[in-house]
Amino acid sequence: MKWFSVGWLILLIIAFYYSCGPKKEAKKIDAKALVAQKCSICHAADRINNKPRSQREWAIVVKRMRIINPRLLTPEEASLMTRYFQENLSK
Ligand code: HEC
Repeated sequence: MKWFSVGWLILLIIAFYYSCGPKKEAKKIDAKALVAQKCSICHAADRINNKPRSQREWAIVVKRMRIINPRLLTPEEASLMTRYFQENLSK
C-alpha cells in the first residue's frame, strides 16, 4: 500500500514537471516573436545581437528604445523582453 502511494506521488511530480515545461517555452517564443515584430520597425535584428551585452546593458537598451518610441511596448512586454535578452543573450 505504501509503495502504491509513493508511485502516485512520483507520477504526480512528473506530471507537474511536464505541465510546467511547455509554458516556459511559450514565454520564450512570445518574447522572440515580440522582438521580431516590434524591434524590426526601425533597424535590422543584427543591430540587436551585434555585440554581447551584460544584463544591466540589456535593461538600459530596452529602456532607451522605449524612450525613443514610448508606445512601442507595454510595461509587461518590456519586462518580458528584458528578461528574454538577459536569459538568452547576455554575456
Ligand atoms: C522608433 C524606432 C526604433 C524602434 C522601434 C527600436 N529601436 Fe533600437 N534603435 C533605434 C535608434 C534610432 C538607435 C540608434 C540610437 C541609439 O543607440 O540610441 C537604436 C539602437 C539600438 C541598439 C544599439 C544600441 C547600442 O548601444 O549599441 C539596440 C541594441 C537596439 N536599438 C535594440 C532595440 C530593441 C530590442 C528594440 C525593440 C524593443 C528596438 N531597438 C526598437 C530606433 C528604434
